[in-house]
Amino acid sequence: MDKLKQRIVEEGVVVSNQVLKLDGLLNHQVDPQLTMEMGKEFAKRFRDAGVTRVVTVESSGISVAFATAYELGVPLLFARRKKTLLAEPDMLCERVPSFTKGIVTDILISREFISADDKILFIDDIIANGDAARGLIKIIERSGAELVGVGIVVEKSFQPGGKAIRDQGIRLETLAQIESLEGGKITFAD
Ligand code: G4P
Ligand code: NA
Ligand code: NA
Repeated sequence: MDKLKQRIVEEGVVVSNQVLKLDGLLNHQVDPQLTMEMGKEFAKRFRDAGVTRVVTVESSGISVAFATAYELGVPLLFARRKKTLLAEPDMLCERVPSFTKGIVTDILISREFISADDKILFIDDIIANGDAARGLIKIIERSGAELVGVGIVVEKSFQPGGKAIRDQGIRLETLAQIESLEGGKITFAD
């Protein structure tokens, strides 16, 4: 998506060789127009997959997941993040480390909103090491639902998350692939 790449170049702040700050369009502020276009693009790519539910993890995935779900005419379900002290039988839960925050959180989805009949499209904002994605994929597997694909706005392809998902045979679509942040410069893969 050329418009997205242009915005990333204009507004992204390279924090280190590993981390790109995208607060202006993904992680703090949301541009509704651009977000709806991202949703349209994901909906177009997954139109034939028979999606019954879009799933993301709070918080930064919600806006683009909403746009995608709106375009596909299906509900959006977002996994909650919290510290769980006791196992809750009606919740599917996975513990995941967070790359940027340096902490471990639990992501949870209620069994009430996901079933074995579902065809799930997982949407998220950024993929780095893929820990959050791995946790969510495990939850979807345990629910018995089918994961028909994953859509991520920004893939940092110098980190292993995206490749790990593709290597599992899961269809992954990304809107911008960043190959390198070396020397403070954003280099796209294509
Ligand atoms: P992931 O690849 O599955 O996202 O897991 P990882 O553990 O690598 O990343 C954890 C969190 O860090 C994610 O946000 C992810 O979007 C964010 N992140 C990783 N690299 C970057 C980066 O270069 N720039 C920015 N802005 N974020 C990055 P999260 O924990 O899901 O938090 P939230 O944004 O949804 O609240
Ligand atoms: Na996220
Ligand atoms: Na994020």
